Amino acid sequence: MSQHKLTSTARRLGHVALLAVGLASAVSLAAEPDKKTMRTWKAKCASCHGADGKAQTDQGKKMHTQDMTTAEWQKSFTDEEIKKAILEGVNREKDGVKQEMEGYKDALKPEQVDALVKYMRTLGPAS
Ligand code: HEC
Repeated sequence: MSQHKLTSTARRLGHVALLAVGLASAVSLAAEPDKKTMRTWKAKCASCHGADGKAQTDQGKKMHTQDMTTAEWQKSFTDEEIKKAILEGVNREKDGVKQEMEGYKDALKPEQVDALVKYMRTLGPAS
């Protein structure tokens, strides 16, 4: 192998290694949502939506709360709509079942709401 070929192979390997490091840190970021937001989710949301977002809780089942972990659910709401639901709550009747969630406008800071939207995205199948 010529000197030139060797150097370019080495350089290419270097790029691959860098890429791998970059991917690994991106993956660990996605897999580890910040702990504070997880705590907020567990304290304020999980009683209905479940820690895992599947809503398999007494309250969640009673109100026919949807499983947030499905691609369908993730697709059916924009970030803006999720944010609006958190701020203003939900109060409707679906198939004769009352669906009620209080609004968190006063209880959560805007950055907490944004972090929750991001967190809910990590519950979906893409993460
Ligand atoms: C008292 C039970 C309860 C709690 C607590 C609760 N929710 Fe909900 N939430 C519901 C119900 C019921 C619905 C409507 C049914 C559905 O769409 O799954 C809903 C719907 C939603 C939706 C979808 C909006 C829509 O129009 O369906 C989002 C987003 C959401 N909740 C986020 C949150 C977040 C974030 C928290 C915590 C800060 C939270 N919820 C706490 C009961 C609750």
